[in-house]
Amino acid sequence: MASFSSSLFFLAVLFSAAHVQSGLVLPIRKDAKTSQFYTTIQMGSNRAKINAVIDLGAQFLWFACNDYTSTTYAPIACGSSKCDMARGMGCVGCNLPPRPGCTNDTCGSPAYNPFQDALVAEGFAEDTLYSQKQAAVPQYLFSCMDSGFLEGLATGATGLLGLARTEISFHKQVAGKLNLLDKFSLCLPSSSGLGKLSVGQSAKSGISKTLKSTPLIINPVSTAPIYSENDPSDEYFIDVKSIKVDGEALSVKDSYFSIDKNGVGGTKISTIQNYTALHNSIYKPFTRAFVKAASDMKIKRVSAVPPFRACFSSESIPRTSAGPSAPAIDLVLPGNDVYWRINGANSLVDVDQKTTCLAFVDGGSNPRTSIVIGAHQLEENFLEFDLVSSQLKFSSSLLVQNKSCSRL
Ligand SMILES: *[C@@H]1O[C@H](CO)[C@@H](O)[C@H](O)[C@H]1NC(C)=O
Ligand SMILES: *[C@@H]1O[C@H](CO)[C@@H](O)[C@H](O)[C@H]1NC(C)=O
Ligand SMILES: *[C@@H]1O[C@H](CO)[C@@H](O)[C@H](O)[C@H]1NC(C)=O
Repeated sequence: MASFSSSLFFLAVLFSAAHVQSGLVLPIRKDAKTSQFYTTIQMGSNRAKINAVIDLGAQFLWFACNDYTSTTYAPIACGSSKCDMARGMGCVGCNLPPRPGCTNDTCGSPAYNPFQDALVAEGFAEDTLYSQKQAAVPQYLFSCMDSGFLEGLATGATGLLGLARTEISFHKQVAGKLNLLDKFSLCLPSSSGLGKLSVGQSAKSGISKTLKSTPLIINPVSTAPIYSENDPSDEYFIDVKSIKVDGEALSVKDSYFSIDKNGVGGTKISTIQNYTALHNSIYKPFTRAFVKAASDMKIKRVSAVPPFRACFSSESIPRTSAGPSAPAIDLVLPGNDVYWRINGANSLVDVDQKTTCLAFVDGGSNPRTSIVIGAHQLEENFLEFDLVSSQLKFSSSLLVQNKSCSRL
């Protein structure tokens, strides 16, 4: 018996050592209809499969619990230390027969569906999270969501996986429970490929040398739908200093690029916004510069197709193995020669068979955040959010290196 249990123990040690090295990896798929990116997790004793849309700016995981059953499910009590850690709001109860999502004296959670702009008072709970073939994450904290509030999510998705900088975001809980470093990487696939969300793992050696790095900065004022006074934003901001098109910096006031004391301005990264949105005062000179540089490349302009302002005849754009060839766009970052280059595959989008548009939208003249880098600009780019050193490592388009998210 003794040797049996010690070999079991040995196995357990081996397993946990393997996890420390490899981290936890989940697949990412793109939903063609909505352009949302989602992953698949398993929850609870029945390992219910849940497709959850990936939201870099969301604070925690929620999913529809209406048909969820699990013997390991437990609500989080209001007033408990876990409720504090989750930044729970008040106490919720329920007058229907008890089930997951319907319990009394439960720590209130502000579950937010960004596609509907709906904030729903739900309750926090915990259960075991499984990912295929990998370690289980016990007592994973999440919120239920009533299935009446799923509108706007990709067909087949019933949840949202939050990756923001909170104590209960996906990477933070997984890293904490599996003893990994708090860092995660994101590689969003274009159309058909398979992307990856990975926690605790460092970049693959094949691309690690080519990654650039820039500090993640803190916006002092929360950007969440509901928050307490003095809460900083838990979204990811980077310090874009200027934008270059075809090597030339746009003439734009510096103040749009910085974040003021009210938390207005700056640049954040979003996985749920389709296209990068620019403050109108950046968008106008940006579009002008791009159109001019494209025209110098003999790319033919055609009528605009909303929401885009600049569109071109597809056949006038040269194609390469790394996508359409277009004027380079650089997001200039602090430091010597540090920039995030956006090539044709990420700057242009085909809107029909004959028309290709500059895939950036006008953020209006009074947006909270001047630049919101959207998902189209992130596709086939490797991004590593290192919260230990507060750095973002990024690859720019992997296609330029003859790589892709599915071939990493
Ligand atoms: C994103 O694009 C899809 C079509 O690909 C569209 O249905 C959806 O409304 C867009 N979302 C936003 C937030 O613009
Ligand atoms: C919650 O408490 C109320 C009042 O005591 C009770 O009627 C109700 O059945 C309880 N609900 C659950 C889900 O236990
Ligand atoms: C690109 O990568 C693929 C698969 O890894 C390989 O078959 C192909 O030869 C590569 N092309 C170039 C130009 O290196």
